[in-house]
Amino acid sequence: MSLVALGVTGGIGAYKAVEVARGLQKAGHDVVAVMTQAATEFVGPLTFEAITRHRVIVGQFERGANADIEHIALASSIDLLLVAPATANIIGKFAAGIADDFLSSLYLATRAPVLLAPAMNTNMWEHEAVQRNLAVLATRGVKMVEPGEGFLACGWTGKGRLAEPDDIVVAAGRLLMPAQTLAGRRVIVSAGPTYEDIDPVRYVGNRSSGKMGFALAEECARRGACVTLVAGPTTVQPPGGVETFRVRTAAEMHEAVVSRARDADVVIMAAAVADYAPVRVSQKIAKDGDELVLRMARTPDILADLGRRRAAGELPKTLLVGFAAETSDVVARAKEKRRRKQADMIVANDVSRTDRGFDVDQNEVTLVTESGEEAVPLGSKADIARAIIERIEPLLARA
Ligand code: CTP
Repeated sequence: MSLVALGVTGGIGAYKAVEVARGLQKAGHDVVAVMTQAATEFVGPLTFEAITRHRVIVGQFERGANADIEHIALASSIDLLLVAPATANIIGKFAAGIADDFLSSLYLATRAPVLLAPAMNTNMWEHEAVQRNLAVLATRGVKMVEPGEGFLACGWTGKGRLAEPDDIVVAAGRLLMPAQTLAGRRVIVSAGPTYEDIDPVRYVGNRSSGKMGFALAEECARRGACVTLVAGPTTVQPPGGVETFRVRTAAEMHEAVVSRARDADVVIMAAAVADYAPVRVSQKIAKDGDELVLRMARTPDILADLGRRRAAGELPKTLLVGFAAETSDVVARAKEKRRRKQADMIVANDVSRTDRGFDVDQNEVTLVTESGEEAVPLGSKADIARAIIERIEPLLARA
């Protein structure tokens, strides 16, 4: 877990920093908020305290600020200093080396990477003084998430609006890169549901959101892997920085995964693939009687097919990881599934619980491999992804 100091300065975008803090936490980071006095005019420190579960630092000389987390201690323990929103004033202070409050002192005292998300009025943003200060900071390696264009709170239209919180979190994640343990590796991740058409207007699908597979793809990319994501129809946005192929049906996913598997070091089948697809009719089915009976046929079992191909020598180097969504006898079924599909690891989850697993942000799984089982406690899907990959890495090294 990385520690991020989130600097919040006095701009109207300060309220969006709350979302940035939450996004950082969701990505598995610990956040300490450092507010300037002006920022507290826009958002109360209590909001950040409740979200970050850390005391919020505002004044340099307030009681306690120099005891438990004083700026030198914080400066050496953070992995990133992110300032969102960063006003023209704080940018000027950082550039000039002025240290007249906690945040500006922290900037001078830390060796951690620094990321700014500026937000200000368009004319201020375009002012030569601000642009020069930013250029000075860039030469010192300070990174920036550019402000967006649009309608600004001051009533103007132009550049200066704080970047979207999600984009700020992604930019922060890039600066918080973990060790590149998967550099040079090729990973295929499947994610989301498949939709199987009944007729030209209807389909059968499932509630998978794709979030678990997306978190896995993102974590592999962060560790330096070259990732291909094969995603079924989801409304959740796939992560940036990975090559994404959209598919709809099990048959399309089968083709997309199998045709790429030969070059892959790992295939992770996190998708909830339909086991049966309706025998499709070309005309829309009209209402007729009280019941409708659908004829369905088996879809290709992608993971089992990969297992067979590997056993036949077609995929000599590919590690195979599957999921087992179960509602009872979770581990026993996962063990059986691992043998039957000839996979190296099955990530078993209990989908009978409505608060974890399918279509929610949290999960709790058991990793079943040849050498035994390992429980991964309830956590965000990013936490679970990390645990899964940490278990895959030694298997890869052995292969
Ligand atoms: N899977 C697959 N192709 C299918 C069905 C499932 O590749 N047609 C993969 C899933 O991506 C997952 C694993 O197989 O990694 C197990 O999926 P699950 O639905 O739990 O198991 P099933 O094989 O469908 O077994 P059952 O429905 O009998 O429990």
